[in-house]
Amino acid sequence: EQNRTPYEYIGEAKLTELVNAFYTRVGNHPELKSIFPDDLTETARKQKQFLTQYLGGPQLYTEEHGHPMLRARHLPHVITPSRAEAWLSCMNEAMDETGVEGDFRDALYYRLSLTAKHMVNTPEHEG
Ligand code: HEM
Repeated sequence: EQNRTPYEYIGEAKLTELVNAFYTRVGNHPELKSIFPDDLTETARKQKQFLTQYLGGPQLYTEEHGHPMLRARHLPHVITPSRAEAWLSCMNEAMDETGVEGDFRDALYYRLSLTAKHMVNTPEHEG
């Protein structure tokens, strides 16, 4: 038990549900949908690869795309503090919907909130 990675704890099936529930919300969010592609299939596929390795699973994202360099990959997109909050609110709701709970949820959400803040590249009034 104590040697399981967070990825093994959540499992591939639940991670897939979480990512799909998340992008359904992103695609409908008034502050987010304009910066994402209409078809989120490929975005969701990459995010699932990324989160797999972020949670200690196989390095699927890096194997296919190279080093994540997440902040650099987000620079072409206008990411304001309010868009980071919107991203996190979509994740929070997706966690509710898919039953991601407890200490695991708290720890993952906290890590994601730090990563999301790190992605902000535009002050609110310039967005
Ligand atoms: C890609 C927005 C935070 C992981 C993208 C894309 C956008 C975006 C517009 C491009 C989608 C596409 O063209 O397919 C945002 C916004 C965020 C945010 C507004 C708010 C802070 C995060 C966080 C993570 C993340 C916290 C990781 C936990 C990714 C990954 C990709 C991506 C893995 C795919 C990169 C690639 O093209 O290979 N994001 N993002 N993003 N984002 Fe975010």
